[in-house]
Amino acid sequence: MDAHIAPPAEPGLDTQAASYRRIVLDSRPSGRPTAESFRLEEVNVSELQAGQILVRNHYLSIDPYMLGRMTTGMSYAPSQPLGAVMIGETVGVVVQSRNRGFSVGDHVVGQLGWQEMAVSGGQGLRKVDVGATPMSAHLGVLGMTGVTAWYGMTQICSPVAGSTVVVSAAAGAVGGVAIQLAKARGCRVLGIAGGSRKCGYVVDSLGADACVDYKKHADIVALGQAVRKHAPDGVDSYFDNVNGWMLEAMLPLMSRFGRIALCGMISRYGDTPMQLTTHSYLLISRLRAQGFIVWDHLDLWPQALEELTTLLQSGSLLSGESIAEGIEAAPAACIGLLSGGNLGKQLVKLVQV
Ligand SMILES: NC(=O)c1ccc[n+]([C@@H]2O[C@H](COP(=O)([O-])OP(=O)(O)OC[C@H]3O[C@@H](n4cnc5c(N)ncnc54)[C@H](OP(=O)(O)O)[C@@H]3O)[C@@H](O)[C@H]2O)c1
Repeated sequence: MDAHIAPPAEPGLDTQAASYRRIVLDSRPSGRPTAESFRLEEVNVSELQAGQILVRNHYLSIDPYMLGRMTTGMSYAPSQPLGAVMIGETVGVVVQSRNRGFSVGDHVVGQLGWQEMAVSGGQGLRKVDVGATPMSAHLGVLGMTGVTAWYGMTQICSPVAGSTVVVSAAAGAVGGVAIQLAKARGCRVLGIAGGSRKCGYVVDSLGADACVDYKKHADIVALGQAVRKHAPDGVDSYFDNVNGWMLEAMLPLMSRFGRIALCGMISRYGDTPMQLTTHSYLLISRLRAQGFIVWDHLDLWPQALEELTTLLQSGSLLSGESIAEGIEAAPAACIGLLSGGNLGKQLVKLVQV
């Protein structure tokens, strides 16, 4: 009844591999992770039980939230256990199946972790169509990243044509999509990113009207002045990926009835929360600032993915990616992401085909 293990769907791949590699959390970092936080292991592929599938992961997504799961600090989700496979989203191919809901050859996205292969009961896995879209995009612009940008921009920033929108961590995965969604709505869009290479990318490749290099304007006053030069009449919507001093610098620049999407706190992860000194602008300027977690809005994912897919397929949405090669490269990719090493979505490619 359950046995329908079909032949390998991917010629050239060793789908009958006896073992695979994975990375576990070896020790909790204090502050940012180091190479010592992780351990590479080789394990045997176990025989499937009824209802299970074996997935070969092709790409692993590296995301800032991972730091929150590695540590025991304040987060919206519990820490992951020591010695367990590092949490992470993957896209891959079903290579064996004893589950009637999945066939060999199905492409699936899910939280299968930092490992080359995974046995799963299928819970939480989402089948994706890679016929007309690259597999990697389902972890980036057509995945959690894209929907996060879509939700924060369309549901909280609510940009209207002609309004001024600012996006921080603008050269990153979420920020890059947020910039492009605001441009698609006819806004004047300003990015904030670290370094001239990143700012060049934000303007030349993502289409922002301007980009402020926060590393050149590295305090609240200097950043505020630099942003104000490009937004003399105020900022109508701010998509905040950074929190901390950058949010503090942005609050006085907001227009009356401005909107702030509190998406991320990359400047504070692994650190203590920071007291804002400019919070009175929330009242003075009648602002609406709303935090959100993309997983709370699964009902809107189909609508978001429809717009993102249309934009991608029409060539109006750039799917920027930084790709590290091989599972052993995942720790460095994660450490690099947290210190700004990536341009666009940080992925790890696990299969060479
Ligand atoms: N709310 C949700 O549901 C949700 C979902 C996904 C992601 N997020 C959040 O969205 C934000 C962006 O995530 P992402 O996946 O797109 O990552 P990302 O932007 O691709 O990568 C992180 C970037 O943050 C910047 N950064 C690092 N430390 C910084 C600091 N101290 N100050 C300013 N910028 C710093 C770096 O760019 P620079 O070189 O420009 O500094 C780095 O490239 C994160 O805060 C993440 O936690 C939230």
